[in-house]
Amino acid sequence: MIQVPRGTQDILPEESYKWQYIEKKLHEIAKNYNYEEIRTPMFESTDLFVRAVGGSTDIVNKEMYTFKDKGDRSLTLRPEGTAPVVRSYIENKMQHNVEQPVKLFYLAPMFRYERKQKGRYRQFVQFGVEAIGVEDPLIDVEVLSMLMNIYQSFGLKNLKLVINSIGDIESRNEYNKALVEHFSPRIDEFCNDCQTRINTNPMRILDCKVDRDHELVKTAPRMYDYLNDESKAYFETVKAKLDKLNINYEVDYNLVRGLDYYTHTAFELMSDAEGFGAITTLCGGGRYNGLLEMMDGPDKSGIGFALSIERLLLALEAEGIEIPKAKGIDLYICTMTDKARNAAGTLLHKLRSRNISADMDYENRKLKAQMKDADRKNAQYTIVLGEDELDSRQADLKNMETGETIKLSFDDIINTLEEL
Ligand code: HAM
Repeated sequence: MIQVPRGTQDILPEESYKWQYIEKKLHEIAKNYNYEEIRTPMFESTDLFVRAVGGSTDIVNKEMYTFKDKGDRSLTLRPEGTAPVVRSYIENKMQHNVEQPVKLFYLAPMFRYERKQKGRYRQFVQFGVEAIGVEDPLIDVEVLSMLMNIYQSFGLKNLKLVINSIGDIESRNEYNKALVEHFSPRIDEFCNDCQTRINTNPMRILDCKVDRDHELVKTAPRMYDYLNDESKAYFETVKAKLDKLNINYEVDYNLVRGLDYYTHTAFELMSDAEGFGAITTLCGGGRYNGLLEMMDGPDKSGIGFALSIERLLLALEAEGIEIPKAKGIDLYICTMTDKARNAAGTLLHKLRSRNISADMDYENRKLKAQMKDADRKNAQYTIVLGEDELDSRQADLKNMETGETIKLSFDDIINTLEEL
């Protein structure tokens, strides 16, 4: 039997109502912060991710779904959303939009070939935002406020926001030099990847899943000490503004994130909930000041974050928060005879075209079983159609919650339900 590909999942109706609820809420919050939706293709030129995310990152080195199309182009299923959005900003010349920053959000599947684990999938859905075009600590804080607002609006409490500053490109280069000096003498104690990283991108060593407990990682120089005055001032302003909004955070000087494009503010939101599992990062993001220029775009900066719905659901589960069940159908039609079944089909057609959700039994079951089905479908009202009802073109509309019934013509049933 062919099964769902490893690291992917079917989201069945028992679960999909939760996704719908979450997606609706995310749309609402995006609206509150005035972010508009952008939809980019599911696949992009492989070069886009190599250049933007970085050739020395795990995402590019190990996790991309890359393939050649019939025209021999190298394409990649998008592993993340920032690079495509930045590409689109540049390609559509959004730097000329009257309003800057251009504030965009996306809610879309991403693909990474990762080892399957709780909270880690090969296809997962990210909600992400990008504010591109202005560099201002106020926007960093807006993005962080939005992120906290999202999680808190679901009732989540066990959250830990961790922030750091990667500094500007000049500070980052100074810091990388210091890391090379620090790690070089004992680099042979590190994994093969880190031995390459020291030459290509030393900061990645701090983020290594294999060597994270090595003594030298713990004693590594702190990014903060290599920030130039401007970068320090930027970071201090962001922190002061967060304090003003009472947004709690911890500073983690080793937070470097798994993608290369970050400058200045970088952050992750973790779950503190007991029993969450090994992977506790719910969301990550940061500022990317040199990225657009590096992609041959204008000298504009951006900031954003992304979270996956899969991990948000795990956080909700870990904190015992239930998502309200979707409302049931408006009307269920029980039928007693074949003739009634046919009449029900016609009535359903009318009901649905007037925007009333309705259903009937298709299995010729006994009345009792049909009533059970109506319950399962959470029907608010039922009617029973038999010979008498067809002759009189009237039926008893039963309110399933109160048990009350009222005799109405077929047309009035439609009108009443429409009004309700
Ligand atoms: P990222 O940290 O690679 O950042 O991913 C962001 C979030 O996506 C993670 O915190 C996690 O919730 C989710 N995620 C990542 N991989 C998986 C997976 N295999 N299964 C389930 N969930 C996953 C980015 O993608 C950046 N583009 C974020 C960003 C936007 N930075 C600036 N703007």
